Amino acid sequence: MSDSVNKVLNMVPTADGTMTLRDKITGELYHNSKGAFFESMESYVLPARLEDIIQRRKGDANGEGKSVIRMIDACFGMGYNTFALWHHILSKPHLPIDQVDVVAIELDTALLATLPDILEQECFKIILDELKDANGQSLAQNLRAFMKLGLPTQSMKFSYQSVGGPTFNLHLIFDDLRVQAAALAANEPGQFDLIFHDPFSPSKLPHLWTIELFDCYFKLLRSDSGRLLTYCAASAVRGGLKHSGFSIYRTRDVGVKKGGTLAVRGDNDVLIEDLIYPLRPEEVEKLDTITGIPYRDPELSSTRKDVLRRRLDEQNERKSQNK
Ligand SMILES: C[S@@+](CC[C@H](N)C(=O)[O-])C[C@H]1O[C@@H](n2cnc3c(N)ncnc32)[C@H](O)[C@@H]1O
Repeated sequence: MSDSVNKVLNMVPTADGTMTLRDKITGELYHNSKGAFFESMESYVLPARLEDIIQRRKGDANGEGKSVIRMIDACFGMGYNTFALWHHILSKPHLPIDQVDVVAIELDTALLATLPDILEQECFKIILDELKDANGQSLAQNLRAFMKLGLPTQSMKFSYQSVGGPTFNLHLIFDDLRVQAAALAANEPGQFDLIFHDPFSPSKLPHLWTIELFDCYFKLLRSDSGRLLTYCAASAVRGGLKHSGFSIYRTRDVGVKKGGTLAVRGDNDVLIEDLIYPLRPEEVEKLDTITGIPYRDPELSSTRKDVLRRRLDEQNERKSQNK
C-alpha cells in the first residue's frame, strides 16, 4: 500500500492479508476483520451463484444473443465486491458470460485513491494480468493516471476486454445511493441480475436499509433470476426485504458474524448445501416481532435520526397494541 494512501485513509490489514479502512465517522471497518477479499467472496460472489442466474434467465439480458450479467454495486467503497466478481468470472472461463456490466454507486470520491493499491494485491492478480485496454494499460494504471488529473465529480466509465473472455464494463457513479437507486429504478426496471448491498451497519446508517430503498431494488432486479446479497443479518433489514416482496435466505457465517442475507425475487428454490440456507426457525419468528419492524424513509430523503425515530414509534405502537 502506498504511504500517501495509508496516511490519508487509515488502512488496516485483515486476517486474509488484504487491506481495509476504518471509517472515521462511524468507527466501523469497511470489511470483516476476517478478510476483506474473503468477505466479498463469502457474502457476495459465491452465494450470487452465477451459474444458477444464467440457468434461470428466460432470454438474454440485452436481447442481442449475448449473455450479459448486470450488477449494481451499492456502496462501492474500495471496490472489493466488484473486483471479487471479476476475479471469479476470470477464474472460471467455462461460465457462459459474454459481458459483465457493473453500475457502482459511492458517495466518497476520496476512495478512488485506494483502488490502484487494492487492485495490485495478490488476490486480484488475474485482473491485473488479463484485463488491459487497447493501449495495454491495466485498470490500476488508468486510475493512477486519472488521479494525477484530479478527482472526478460525477461519474467515470471503464471498459476492458479479456483475451477470449467477457468484456467488463464499470460505470462508477459518485452520488447518494438513494438518489441513484430511485433514478435507476425509474429508468432501468427489471434490468439487473444482481445487487451487492454493502453500506455501514443499519444502526449507524439506517436510511440506507429502508423498505423504500428495497422497493427500488425489487423493481431493478429481473423477475426470473434477480437476487440481492448483503453481509447483514439484522431482523429489521430482513423484515424490510420481506416487506418489499423478496424471499429471504441466510448465507454462510463470515468470522464472528451470524451469516449474511440473500434476497431473491419470487420464491425460487435457491438452497445450496453449505452456501445458501433457509432461515432458522428463531430467525423467522423474529421477523414478526418488534425487532423485525423495518426502517422506513417515505421520500428517500430522511435523516438518520428521523428513520430511527419512525421505527421506534412503530415499535412502541406495536407494544401498546399487544398489551
Ligand atoms: C462498508 S463500506 C463499503 C465497502 C465496499 N463495498 C468495498 O468492498 O470496499 C460502506 C461505503 O458506503 C459509502 N457510503 C456511505 N454513505 C453513502 C451514501 N449515502 N451513498 C452511497 N455510498 C455511501 C461509504 O463511503 C463507504 O465507502
